[in-house]
Amino acid sequence: MIKIAPSLLSADFIRLEEEICKIQDAGADILHLDVMDGHFVPNLTFGLPVIKQIKKFAKIPIDVHLMVSNPDVYLETLGKWNIDYVSFHQEAENHIHRQLKVLQDSGVKAGIALNPATPVETIFPVISDLDFVLIMSVNPGFGGQSFIPLVYDKIEKLRKLADQVNPDLEIEVDGGVNNINAPKLISKGSDILVAGSFVFGSADYKNQIQSLRDNHV
Ligand code: DX5
Ligand code: ZN
Repeated sequence: MIKIAPSLLSADFIRLEEEICKIQDAGADILHLDVMDGHFVPNLTFGLPVIKQIKKFAKIPIDVHLMVSNPDVYLETLGKWNIDYVSFHQEAENHIHRQLKVLQDSGVKAGIALNPATPVETIFPVISDLDFVLIMSVNPGFGGQSFIPLVYDKIEKLRKLADQVNPDLEIEVDGGVNNINAPKLISKGSDILVAGSFVFGSADYKNQIQSLRDNHV
């Protein structure tokens, strides 16, 4: 069953509480939180204090996507707060095993995120140590960008290898996801679809979420 993870980046930040309630009622499976530091990506969002409040309030699992240059400084704290999923970027961290262990020791599902230009083969050596992989289908930093189709191939390669060595590995796709590309993303082996502007850009969140699940190739 595909899981839909709306990205709060495209929600109305003045009315976050209401937006979280609405998206939960609309059938979201996971809440995707984009942390940006103005360094790894050319944009800033929110950090630990906001995540802490959201975790206390939300009724569905929280997925923190760290688009930051020093992800290690966040990991222990996110673990203490029982965040459900945390990913950091392959391009930002030199000590992948150490950081995965920090997360997994506190019961967090640990993932690595890959920019569009980073070959998926770069994570093959650690594939058995991962709970999930986040494949970026735009260059991270902003919501509302156009989907980059080269990810289909990356998902297919990753799914093939994961089926042999780590069948529980979840593949998450993030960026420019909509009801046109969703069927192919699912058929290639995606488990979690992140969608920001496609969901929050419409008045009917429920209909948007449903349309991502509906159409199969
Ligand atoms: C982009 C973020 C995404 C973003 C997706 O840097 O990681 O999670 O919110 O937004 P859309 O779906 O609008 O591309
Ligand atoms: Zn994201």
